[in-house]
Amino acid sequence: MRLLFIGDVVGRAGRAIVNERLPGLIRDWTLDLVVINGENAAGGFGITEAIYNEFIDAGADAVTLGNHSWDQREALVFIERAPRLVRPANYPAGTPGRGAALVDTRTGKRALVINMMGRIFMDPLDDPFAVADRELNACPLGEAADLVILDMHCEATSEKQAMGLFCDGRASLVVGTHTHVPTADHRILPAGTAFISDVGMTGAFDSIIGMAKEEPLQRFQSKISRARFEAADGTATLCGIAVETDDKTGLATRIAPVRLGGILDEAKPAFWGQAAV
Ligand code: FE2
Repeated sequence: MRLLFIGDVVGRAGRAIVNERLPGLIRDWTLDLVVINGENAAGGFGITEAIYNEFIDAGADAVTLGNHSWDQREALVFIERAPRLVRPANYPAGTPGRGAALVDTRTGKRALVINMMGRIFMDPLDDPFAVADRELNACPLGEAADLVILDMHCEATSEKQAMGLFCDGRASLVVGTHTHVPTADHRILPAGTAFISDVGMTGAFDSIIGMAKEEPLQRFQSKISRARFEAADGTATLCGIAVETDDKTGLATRIAPVRLGGILDEAKPAFWGQAAV
C-alpha cells in the first residue's frame, strides 16, 4: 500500500499547492491513503469547515490537527460532523471530536489515523504514550486496520523519536509535525514502523516557519507585539513523506521525503516514478 502524509499546511499559499498538486499525485502514484496536517490552514491559525471540505475534495482521507485545533472557534462545533478530522487524542476527557479515526480509503483500505500532542515545551496534556498504547491496542495493525498512522504534533525531537520507538511494529508510520522544518532522518525503525522527526510544512519557506517575516523578526528583537502574525504569501513548497507498506502486515517497506515547488530542493520517491504534475 502507498501512503502520503502532507505536513502542516500554512495559510492560503499552502492550501493552493495542495489543491494544485494533490489530485495528480494521487493519480500518478496510485496512493491508497493521504493524510494532511491542517492545523495552520486558516491563515496560520486553525481550520474552518470550508477548508476541511476543500482538503477532502482534493483527495485527503483524513486531516489531523494540533495545538492550534481550536483557533477557529467553529472547529469546536463542526468537528462533530467531520468524521475525517482528528484532533490530539490526549486532550482532556470531554473535548469535542475524536483523537483517532478508522477511515475507509478510496482504495478500500481501513486506515487508523491517530493525532497526538507532545508535552515538552507545550501544554501539559495527558500522557501521550499511555493514550497511544490504548489506541493501538484497540485497533491492531494487520488485524483491525490495514494501515496505522500516528501524527506526533510536538516541539522536541527527542519526544518524537521516543514515540516512534514506542509504536515501532504497531504503526505503519509515526510522523512528527509542528516545527515546520523538514528533518533528514526518515527511516524504517527496527520493527517496521516508518518514521521522520519532522515532515516539514506546506507553505511559503521565504518566511519564519510560514509566517510573513517582518513581525516575528521585530518581535524577537523588541519583545513588543506590534501587529498580528500573518501567513506568508509567495510560492509554497509541499512537504510530505511517502511510505510504502507490506499488504499483509501494514508495516513499512520503503520511505522517502517529498518536497515539491517553492525554494527547497525538490524530492520525490524514486520508487514510485516521476509524477506528471
Ligand atoms: Fe502546531
